[in-house]
Amino acid sequence: MEKAVLIGATGTIGKAVNQQLTEKGYDVIATSRKLTPSIDIENKESIDNFFADKKDVDAIICAAGDASFGAFSNLTDEQINIELNSKLMGQVNICRKALKALKPSGAIILTGGIFAHNPWPETTNIAMVNAALEGFVKALALELSEGHRILVVHPPFVKETAQAMGMDGSNCPPAMEIARVYVQGLEGKESGKAVYVDEYSPNRQSNRRLRQ
Ligand SMILES: NC(=O)c1ccc[n+]([C@@H]2O[C@H](COP(=O)([O-])OP(=O)(O)OC[C@H]3O[C@@H](n4cnc5c(N)ncnc54)[C@H](OP(=O)(O)O)[C@@H]3O)[C@@H](O)[C@H]2O)c1
Repeated sequence: MEKAVLIGATGTIGKAVNQQLTEKGYDVIATSRKLTPSIDIENKESIDNFFADKKDVDAIICAAGDASFGAFSNLTDEQINIELNSKLMGQVNICRKALKALKPSGAIILTGGIFAHNPWPETTNIAMVNAALEGFVKALALELSEGHRILVVHPPFVKETAQAMGMDGSNCPPAMEIARVYVQGLEGKESGKAVYVDEYSPNRQSNRRLRQ
C-alpha cells in the first residue's frame, strides 16, 4: 500500500484530497495543527518533530497555508509576514525535511493558487507567495535525485470557499475537482512545474470570467 502524508487534511481542499487518496487505496497520514499526529507548518520544530519518525513515504502533499486578501496600501507587516511564514516558508521548510522521508520516485505536491498568474485586485500578498512557490518548485526540481518529483498545484477559487464567503461560486470548481489534480500529479511523471484544473489554467477563457 502506498503511503501519503497529507498536511491540511481537514481543510476544504485537504478533505477532498484525503477522500480521493483513500478511495485509491493510499495509506494516508492525515495531519494539521489540530490532528494527531500534528504539525504546524509555521513552526520549524513542529515540522522536525513530525518528520522525525517518517520514512519510506511515497507522497507528501501540503494543502495548508494562510492567505490574506487586502488592498496593498493597507497591508500590515503582520499580514505580510503571516503569509510569508505560513504558506511560503512553511512549505519550503516542509520540503527541507520531507525529502529525507521520501522513497525513491516519491513526489511532493505543494499548494499555491491561480492568483500567481491571474490576480484579482487586493491579492498582492497571495499572488506574491503563489508565484514564489512556483519559482521554488521549478528550481528545486533541478536538484532532486532518486527519481523524486515536486509540483505545485495552483487551484482557482473553490466553489465551497466562495459559498462560505457568501459569494456566487457557480463559476468555481468544487474541491473534488481540484483534488483530482493533486492525485493526477502524484500518479504522473511531471516535475518542476505548476499544475492546474484544466479549464481554469491561466489562459483559459473560463478563468477570465471568474475575475468579473
Ligand atoms: N479554497 C480556495 O478557494 C483556494 C484557492 C486557491 C488556493 N488555495 C490554497 O489552498 C490551501 C488550502 O486552502 P483551503 O481553502 O482548503 O484551506 P482551509 O479550508 O482553511 O483548511 C486549511 C487546512 O490547513 C490546516 N492548517 C492551517 N494552518 C496550518 C498550519 N500552520 N500548520 C498545519 N496545518 C495548518 C487546517 O487545519 P488546522 O486548523 O487543524 O491546522 C486545515 O486542515 C491554502 O494554501 C490556500 O491558500 C485555496
